[in-house]
Amino acid sequence: MAKSLVTCALPYANGKLHIGHMLEHIQGDIYARFLRLIGKEVLFIGGSDMHGTPVELNAAKHGIPVEKFAENFRKEHIQNFKDYLIEYDNFYKTHSPENKEFAHLFFKTLKEKGFVKIKEMEQMYDEKAQRFLPDRYVKGTCPKCKAEDQYGDICESCGTIYNPKDLINPLSVITQTTPVLKTSKHYFIELAKFSTKLKEWIDASNFQSEIKNWLQNWMNEGLEDWCISRDEPYFGFEIPGSEEETGSKKFFYVWLDAPIGYISSTKNYTDQHNLNWEDYWKGGEITHILGKDIVYFHYLFWPAMLMAVDFSLPKIQTHGFITVSGKKMSKSRGTFFTADDFLKLYDAESLRFYYASHLDNKVVDINLDFKDFQAVINNVLMGNLGNFCYRTLVFAQKNYLTIETVSEEKELEKEITILINEIKEHYNTFDFKNAVKKILRISDIGNQYFQKAQPWSDKDSEESKAAVGFCVNLARNLSILVQPIIPILSKKVQSTLSEEKLTWSDIKFNWTGVLQKPEQLVQKIETLPVSNDFPIQMKVGEIMEVKDHPNADKLCVMKVDFKSEKRQIVAGLKKHFTPEELVGTKAVFCVNLKPAKLRGELSQGMSMIAEDDDGNLSWLTPEAEVGQEVQFKELKNSEKEITFDEFVKIKLVAKSGKIFYDGKQLQKVSVSGVKDGATVR
Ligand code: MSP
Ligand code: ZN
Repeated sequence: MAKSLVTCALPYANGKLHIGHMLEHIQGDIYARFLRLIGKEVLFIGGSDMHGTPVELNAAKHGIPVEKFAENFRKEHIQNFKDYLIEYDNFYKTHSPENKEFAHLFFKTLKEKGFVKIKEMEQMYDEKAQRFLPDRYVKGTCPKCKAEDQYGDICESCGTIYNPKDLINPLSVITQTTPVLKTSKHYFIELAKFSTKLKEWIDASNFQSEIKNWLQNWMNEGLEDWCISRDEPYFGFEIPGSEEETGSKKFFYVWLDAPIGYISSTKNYTDQHNLNWEDYWKGGEITHILGKDIVYFHYLFWPAMLMAVDFSLPKIQTHGFITVSGKKMSKSRGTFFTADDFLKLYDAESLRFYYASHLDNKVVDINLDFKDFQAVINNVLMGNLGNFCYRTLVFAQKNYLTIETVSEEKELEKEITILINEIKEHYNTFDFKNAVKKILRISDIGNQYFQKAQPWSDKDSEESKAAVGFCVNLARNLSILVQPIIPILSKKVQSTLSEEKLTWSDIKFNWTGVLQKPEQLVQKIETLPVSNDFPIQMKVGEIMEVKDHPNADKLCVMKVDFKSEKRQIVAGLKKHFTPEELVGTKAVFCVNLKPAKLRGELSQGMSMIAEDDDGNLSWLTPEAEVGQEVQFKELKNSEKEITFDEFVKIKLVAKSGKIFYDGKQLQKVSVSGVKDGATVR
């Protein structure tokens, strides 16, 4: 039987892992556990991706030597995996002697076989930092739509893809100076030479349908030469002979040696365990698990490299991205959860179960909605599966201690056996969602059976004992079926039966034996995380026109420009300012106030003004542009409409020329001419 190797993409050792990353490692862990459960010889391999410019610059920013910096994150990530019950056989690193050796081997072979060429390339160069700039380290104005502050590869405003040198007013992100163009010789892999073989491989594969579409489009557009070298300074492996061949030292681009890290992590493991890495990479069955953003690297660049050295080609499974409350995770909205943060609120198995019940074979994003999460854990995991196993085991242990007879239920056994085979197939095809559904169908059957048998009404009868015996067998089987997803629950059920590490082949319907007192199986979810919203949506506006309110002495009616729109706002400012003072003033306004008619005039917002107890008044002076929102540090402005009563309850205070809410400072806004402690309304 071919040996199996399962990998997840190697996360950059450049920051904390978040719950989006964890989706991938949970998916990989479930799959690897499943393969072990059905008796396959499997290695689950990962590692830290340590090379590249971002890691290097980030380490420098923290004043830590880059290798140490990356190693610290690697250690932290390994701890995260442990906390999430993810059992890597080896979690190694790309900055390793093994990886260097393999990188050299790949490069040498590619070169010898005529797949590598050297070309001159023009790139942005930061003269102050004395380094070439990767696309993401140049920012400027989009040449197409003129949006400012766009990266050198893509405009986030209009989606145009361009070359960093096409940006208007490009600036280096590192030094804020204007980069110059400079040429240097680089190494390229002629990917087009692999087109035919890649096409054959893709056509013969059973890749997910979305992926096949993308690949076909890319292949039709034609495969371009891929630049695999970078100039120094660069944290990576130096390319042997590069100085002579190109006139200056070159390093392997991070994406060249990153996937090679899969092999070196394997070898690092097999060397220590009397195994052969070749059994996996020359003839084994390899499965890569990764996210939709790195498809090109894994389905085109990487297999081409593997083809060049005649290693086994992988199967690949791609997942979508985790969103929280329907959006990309965001620190300011309070929806960014590091792996650590999440465990302060909930346990690892709840996330594993939630992800498993949403993961299938499609490349779609998975939304973590906390209400849904609570319902899945409390109503499904606890209410259905947990409840069945727990009530069965508690009842059996309390009343009988030993199971001696088991009711024979041929029809149900048949039905359940079909489900079990389907579950196996679902695990095999990464359709975890349907595996979960069918597992729950079995516990449903169990719950109904228990309910119908009513063993509590006649505890000591043979029928009751045998019926409970059947339920105990179902719980035991379920403990095997759920093991890849929720190993702790599985283990608790098995230890109640004085068993452990049961495998798929241990599934049966005639278990008898002694019971231990069961532990609680599922932790109920009581509270949801609070979202970090500030209830007022604050925008910079410019007062265009001011006139007296026709029916109110103290009020004036202003036209305020917010760039995307103009609004009429009624304010009680007449006795404090003349119209001449008001027109042209740029200030901060609340724009999500419920519109109201004030003595017959429509008001679509409210001016925000600080006032101290001496009666001094001041506008909030924005540094931001007209039309932009201003916000408190770490707080996102709510877009939900608020009423006037809600508005006046919100306490904002001035201190040292700044505005504070709950200890957090309002950014890009200052205030003057009022005492500390002045309140804003
Ligand atoms: N270092 C490269 C991978 C090299 S593999 C030879 C890399 N690292 S990463 O840290 O940016 O991403 C690691 C994995 O996490 C990728 O598969 C990526 O798709 C996945 N995810 C990152 N954010 C994610 C979500 N929000 N949701 C799901 N997966 C996400 O790319
Ligand atoms: Zn644009």
